[in-house]
Amino acid sequence: MTTERIALIPGDGIGREVVPAALAVLEAVGRRHGIAFTYDEFDWSCERYLTEGAMMPADGLDRIRGHDAIFLGAVGAPGVPDHVSLWGLLIPIRRQFQQYVNLRPIRVFDGLDSPVRGAVAGEVDFVVVRENVEGEYSEIGGRMSRGFPDELAVQEAVFTRAGVTRLVDFGLDLAERRRSYGAAAASPRDGYVTSATKSNGIVHTMPFWDEIVAERTALRPAIRWDQEHIDALSAKLVLDPARFDVIVASNLFGDILSDLAAAVAGGIGIAPAANLNPARDFPSMFEPVHGSAPDIAGRGIANPIGAIWTAAMMLDHLGHLEAAAEVENAIAAVLAAREVRTPDLGGTATTTSFTQAVLDAVEAR
Ligand code: NAI
Ligand code: MG
Repeated sequence: MTTERIALIPGDGIGREVVPAALAVLEAVGRRHGIAFTYDEFDWSCERYLTEGAMMPADGLDRIRGHDAIFLGAVGAPGVPDHVSLWGLLIPIRRQFQQYVNLRPIRVFDGLDSPVRGAVAGEVDFVVVRENVEGEYSEIGGRMSRGFPDELAVQEAVFTRAGVTRLVDFGLDLAERRRSYGAAAASPRDGYVTSATKSNGIVHTMPFWDEIVAERTALRPAIRWDQEHIDALSAKLVLDPARFDVIVASNLFGDILSDLAAAVAGGIGIAPAANLNPARDFPSMFEPVHGSAPDIAGRGIANPIGAIWTAAMMLDHLGHLEAAAEVENAIAAVLAAREVRTPDLGGTATTTSFTQAVLDAVEAR
């Protein structure tokens, strides 16, 4: 029996509804694979901010540093500016724990229509590997002459050789790993990496990015790769999403691409994400892509797929590959049966009844 010690941050709104769903699935699959989970739950949230003036306590990061992983629902509440929840919780965790990869898998499932006509189930299956700690989202810059006609703002992007190299290497490793998965049904996209760039317009950081991508891919003769300007790449993601396998992108480009890609896959409620520290010096953090959805919070109708799939990514990162695949297959099986779905996908199921269907699918295997 392996024990995984998880720091749990349900957060606000539907975060608190989808986290229990994910835990139920973890328990079920853990029983089948000899994995036990222990949870330490933290009330870090916008609700806490409103009463205590901070998203988390001053020693928050020290309290979760020793866990095997962090599982987070969503944070955000009306009345609390979004930059408070982001800079008061998510960004400190991502940066201090060197979670330099944001991983977002995209799949079009059988039984869940994509808004994109050409996006066919079984064909669209790729990952966006987003740089998560540097790049365009930097604190370097400033504003001058506030309120005067000559007011100006400057924001610097920071790209480091070490930062780009480790991100690209992660993407290349992943492409090799995914190629070996696909051995049974070889696909033209196996071992194919796309680098998102804009070196025609951004003349310092993006040529630097391109050079490092070229250097690192040259060391992997088995990998095919392309680079695409971000504008053209965005169009291709909509027109021909099946051609992609692994996309490596800077912080800003990856942020935009991964939401676009989640929309191609059929909605924000199903999209999972991982903030990974591949070096494993610190715990990684797993969170669905969606926010706290105040418009539907408290009604028990949140779609738990994003959170459950996120739990599968956590299992995968912790080395439980079979258990991870079982969870993802259970989601796929429930969707393919076309019976149970939550209102965001046009159905009438509750969070609980949908989760029960996933649990049944896990047990039925
Ligand atoms: P949101 O993702 O919370 O909601 C956008 C729309 O999608 C809403 O109509 C919502 O009902 C729907 N939706 C989202 N997840 C769903 C699910 N699982 N099932 C069914 N429907 C779902 O994004 P929004 O409205 O922009 O932000 C709301 C709050 O969440 C804000 O305070 C924002 O800052 C925060 N937020 C937090 C994130 C995080 O914790 N990482 C990410 C995005 C937003
Ligand atoms: Mg985003």
